[in-house]
Amino acid sequence: MQKDEALSKISEIVEVYFSSQKPEFIPGVTKVPLQYPSYGHKEVIEAIESLLSTWVTMGKKVGQFERIFADYIGVKYGLMVNSGSSANLVALTILTNPLFRNRIPKGSEVITPAITWATTVYPILNVGLKPVFVDVGTDYDIDVNKIESAITDKTKAIMPVHMMGNPCDIKTIMEIAQNHNLFVVEDNCESYGAEVDGKKAGSFGNLSTSSFFISHHITTIEGGMVNTNDEELFEFAKQARTFGWIRDLKNKEEISKSYPNIDPRFLFISMGYNLRPTELQGGFGIHQMAKIEEFIKIRRENADFWNKSFEKFSDYLTLPQERRGIRHSRFCYPITIKPNAPFTRKEMMEFLENKKIETRPVMAGNIVEQPVSQVLDYRVAGDLANSHLVMNNSFFFGNHQNIGKEEREHVANSIEEFMKLKMV
Ligand SMILES: Cc1ncc(COP(=O)(O)O)c(C=O)c1O
Repeated sequence: MQKDEALSKISEIVEVYFSSQKPEFIPGVTKVPLQYPSYGHKEVIEAIESLLSTWVTMGKKVGQFERIFADYIGVKYGLMVNSGSSANLVALTILTNPLFRNRIPKGSEVITPAITWATTVYPILNVGLKPVFVDVGTDYDIDVNKIESAITDKTKAIMPVHMMGNPCDIKTIMEIAQNHNLFVVEDNCESYGAEVDGKKAGSFGNLSTSSFFISHHITTIEGGMVNTNDEELFEFAKQARTFGWIRDLKNKEEISKSYPNIDPRFLFISMGYNLRPTELQGGFGIHQMAKIEEFIKIRRENADFWNKSFEKFSDYLTLPQERRGIRHSRFCYPITIKPNAPFTRKEMMEFLENKKIETRPVMAGNIVEQPVSQVLDYRVAGDLANSHLVMNNSFFFGNHQNIGKEEREHVANSIEEFMKLKMV
């Protein structure tokens, strides 16, 4: 049997695994999970093809995915890494690289929201900078009205987070950044596909980051991306991803001429890490990008349905609205229970969990209320009242490509049942 023939036989077998009908949905019995893996037969065969070819470390497929993703976001460059956390680390490593003319000096401050994922914050500290936490609005995104007053002589960057598919007011953030000469790193790990006035989140700042963890809009199992329009930043990103060596750099020949006694294959010019993805992940990414718009469409339809279903409870629940001029990419479905509600978040989450609907708090909540904050060197600008509310009163359930009509109706009916019980 020839190799091609063997691969096509494997492909037939793999297809069987992914072609089986979705099992019957039984409300209250079948789980409504937070996420459901979005990959199928094509991604698996692509990965097997990489394994069989023996080219498994970062190569052409990663490069192809980087170009497709950069085009999608609407920027010139994409650099894939092994996670969204690593993407944040790369972005901040670039900005503090001693070889970068406009580098941010150690000890400088970076303004970021108090509500986010933990690894928006840690990389700021990892590169010797200090996070300054600003409150969020009722839509979970950084409150842009509170940014100016957080700026000091030490502020050198803003790291806004587009939370849960909801792009933040990035245009105002860019204006503030320009007025104060600050870098902007958009943490877009939860929101690629979102748009502000027709322009994609992740294309506004100097740098942006994305995550392809299994529960995100698309998945490479684990994976992340750094995007930029700036070639110089892109060249520094390559150093940060791979040991600080010159191998992937555009001007590597020129650099190596200055060091004739060092083998250019092992020539190191700055400090870096090993944050490379594998070829299997790159292959996944290529196929996932063919599906991203369909996935977002399903997520948006689900969110519209739930927003309509729960509108009548708006005295007690804050729902995730879509602001005028934006496209929300609906990472999940968050709800905040208003302080006047005659029930607690715990009661509501427990009720839904009993109905087999998986729930979670909104990410790390208010990071300064997490025990880890005791070992973080940070500053708080203003009060964090909304972040405190999110920490205690907000939660989310899953909204993804595998949630169809039956699942979303079960979720809506369950919340309706809970509200009827509590509102008497
Ligand atoms: C806002 C935000 N930033 C960063 C990350 C880190 O991404 P990863 O899990 O791929 O490391 C996440 C993860 O979900 C996130 O939600």
